[in-house]
Amino acid sequence: MTTLLPVRAVPAPANGAPRARRLPSTGAITDAFSRPMRDLRISVTDRCNFRCVYCMPKTVFGRDYAFLEHDELLSFDEITRLAGVAVAHGVHKLRLTGGEPLLRRGIEGLIERLAALRTPDGEPVEIAMTTNGSALAVKAEALRAAGLARVTVSLDSLDDAVFQSMNDVRFPVDRVLAGLRAAHDAGLGPIKVNMVVKRGLNDHEVLPMARHFKDSPFTLRFIEYMDVGTSNGWRLDEVVPSAEIVELIGAEMPLEPIGATAPGETAARWRYVDGGGEIGVISSVTNAFCGSCNRARISTEGKLFTCLFASEGHDLRALLRGGVDDDGLAAAMASIWGARDDRYSEVRATLTPELRAARPKPEMSYLGG
Ligand code: GTP
Ligand code: 5AD
Ligand code: SF4
Ligand code: SF4
Repeated sequence: MTTLLPVRAVPAPANGAPRARRLPSTGAITDAFSRPMRDLRISVTDRCNFRCVYCMPKTVFGRDYAFLEHDELLSFDEITRLAGVAVAHGVHKLRLTGGEPLLRRGIEGLIERLAALRTPDGEPVEIAMTTNGSALAVKAEALRAAGLARVTVSLDSLDDAVFQSMNDVRFPVDRVLAGLRAAHDAGLGPIKVNMVVKRGLNDHEVLPMARHFKDSPFTLRFIEYMDVGTSNGWRLDEVVPSAEIVELIGAEMPLEPIGATAPGETAARWRYVDGGGEIGVISSVTNAFCGSCNRARISTEGKLFTCLFASEGHDLRALLRGGVDDDGLAAAMASIWGARDDRYSEVRATLTPELRAARPKPEMSYLGG
């Protein structure tokens, strides 16, 4: 049983921002494979203004799709409480995701509150966001002012026709590029750009994307198309292995591998030999990184998922709304994480397509990327 000591107050800032809250340690927690919980991803909405074919295909997420009602979502109070308990347990990084997190009204207010959290050592917690970039040109400054440290922006092609066929809502690439510039100007860096590569759809865009972002302030990362959720009709032959991408780019612009910057990092890093920056490859299909996975996820309606591919989550919202105190929440989180033995990407290859299809898997838009 973990115990939460009273929160140590820090003087209120003069500008009216929330008072910094230093969380006393409830002890770092480790799972069944001794993996700590360091990174918490919070999905703040299951809605998105895009319909990316690999994530929210229109055939499933059409006009009559039943998204969650507002009172089913965790409130900002509830999110802040859960994040505080996670930070007391050793979480150092909070990532806001969705769906599209910038669609959640008043998100800046949540960021302000999360940015006020302090680790048991008195360090600020890093607040990051994964976004499709569509609203960044308008919101970047306000997000930075609220305390967001950095953004990761999804962008699958520079070619308008390809990009629009992937986002499936005719969203022009120029507006995402304008969002990227605005985020950079607002100081929301270092900024990463995520490109999901799907064979036959945008693999011919790998080189143009690499050329565009080489020698720029942005780090481009190529993500292997994953069998997350059940609606995207995933097939193994549509995955472009990272090794192929590194070879393709390296043949034109020589690359060399470099080490990880943080334990449990998703991307393997490569730098241009001529000093033109770096790229990352996220190989969750061909080279799983479960062994060091330190990521917990809270779904839009407050379920704690211990894996992107977990069949079920643990209902923390029920505890919150049932009046549990922080000690109770901390104990629940510790016991869920303590029992964690997920390593789906490592066992994926041993499953038949039938077994994979039969397995219930939540959608990424609900669970958070
Ligand atoms: P940094 O904070 O910059 O290190 O970013 P990150 O790599 O932790 O987060 P980001 O959201 O940019 O993750 C990149 C992509 O990697 C996600 O969008 C997912 O596609 C994939 N990914 C992230 N976490 C996991 C994970 O735990 N398992 C698997 N299989 N894929 C993941
Ligand atoms: N495979 C790989 N990446 C995905 N994303 C969404 N769905 C998938 C998938 N099936 C990525 C998005 C974004 C992040 C949230 O997850 O492109 O960068
Ligand atoms: Fe929206 Fe991101 Fe999913 Fe695309 S990948 S539909 S932008 S949540
Ligand atoms: Fe972590 Fe699950 Fe992804 Fe493996 S498959 S890296 S355990 S989230």
